Amino acid sequence: MSRPSKNDSGGWPADFVWGVSTSSYQIEGAALEDGRGPSIWDTRCRQKGRIANGDTGDIACDHYHRYLDDVALMKELGVAAYRFSLAWPRVLPLGRGAANEAGLAFYDRLIDALLAAGIEPWLCLYHWDLPQALDDLGGWTSRDSAGWFADYAALAARRYGDRVKRFATFNEFSVFTLFGYAMDWGAPGVADRDAHLKAIHHVNLAHGAGVDVLRSLVAGASIGGIHNRQRIIPEHDTPEDKRAAALLDEHWNRAFPDAQLLACYPPMIARAIEPYVQAGDMARICRPVDWFGLNHYGPIFAKADAAAIWGFAWGSAPADVPRSAIGWPIYPDLFRDELCDLTRRYRLPIYVTENGCGGKDKPDERGEIVDRHRIAFLEAHIGAMREALGKGADVRGYFVWSLLDNFEWSAGYSDRFGLVYVDFATRERTPKASARWYAKLIKGAQVR
Ligand code: FCB
Repeated sequence: MSRPSKNDSGGWPADFVWGVSTSSYQIEGAALEDGRGPSIWDTRCRQKGRIANGDTGDIACDHYHRYLDDVALMKELGVAAYRFSLAWPRVLPLGRGAANEAGLAFYDRLIDALLAAGIEPWLCLYHWDLPQALDDLGGWTSRDSAGWFADYAALAARRYGDRVKRFATFNEFSVFTLFGYAMDWGAPGVADRDAHLKAIHHVNLAHGAGVDVLRSLVAGASIGGIHNRQRIIPEHDTPEDKRAAALLDEHWNRAFPDAQLLACYPPMIARAIEPYVQAGDMARICRPVDWFGLNHYGPIFAKADAAAIWGFAWGSAPADVPRSAIGWPIYPDLFRDELCDLTRRYRLPIYVTENGCGGKDKPDERGEIVDRHRIAFLEAHIGAMREALGKGADVRGYFVWSLLDNFEWSAGYSDRFGLVYVDFATRERTPKASARWYAKLIKGAQVR
């Protein structure tokens, strides 16, 4: 692909893609409707003490019923693209075998509404809601999972591939495998070294198999994987914390993209994962893709923890670092550097598939949500992205996380990332000041 041409719209390439992102479990609700099967997150939400306030995704934003309102909100924003995920247990209630027509038909309606509004659907196959029935068979610790995923990808490709061309295999490989199989911070809530290593390798195999299926079934498909990458900084300048940071860096930033794009595991993981790697696996994993999906929030501070499975733990950022209202450190310069490093390392066009700012937003006395903190965050990060473009980073698009306030995993509904406020008592939607700001930015960037 050739580099996009610049125009006079503040320096943004004319075909730069501006979008918003969501995910199935975080917004859809209708957990028990129209034949949807349970996912590992339904299970986790029912375990006492796992999720803040005992929240669940049972209703979430009720997007399943209000998707037309949500498409209208996106049209108002002026976005060119919408990244959403398919709920695997909605279309295959047991994860494999008989498909659920009502579930498949929901995504038909959503995709058709998006296309009618002039918004391109970007379909991600997996944003963490594994069917519970597959977890009962071992989930990602079973080598069979690659085949289950390939069959599910084929179903999606056959059904939607006439209208959807942008496909992502997985969202944040490292996050859901590390949190779900090593740290018990997410579903399915396992904390076991070997389970984690198997999950890493099998998810990589599933990615490779999924890419092949999508490529063979969807004419003109444009395929990527979505990786969460951020700088890992040792909390203290000690050999222990430095070693912890180096290993977390391998897990967080390299175990998946290096395997998928360079056909190798980073050194410390390579040694540990060897027993699970069979002849020919690295070639199965490393399949040609069209773009690199980057989710980026801020750096992680790492410290040594002898009691942890891998000997690393999350440390604290220095006290004087700017933070979001939910405590995440804010370093836009590291976002710029990440975009430049990525371009050099993997040589793929980059789409920023998530970037955004969490808060505790509340309507003021006039009912308005004036989220200046989010506008400042987005302004700084979009500015950093523009600097990266100036330095030669091959960035082709940017998606804000998220369109709506939604179910933020272990934080439940208490952390809000939306451009649009959701009242979780009524499900009423109110665009925040940041929504108007983003709409204006997009309009300005498109001036020819
Ligand atoms: C990312 C997840 C997304 C959301 C944001 C805040 O790690 O992909 O679902 O939770 O963080």
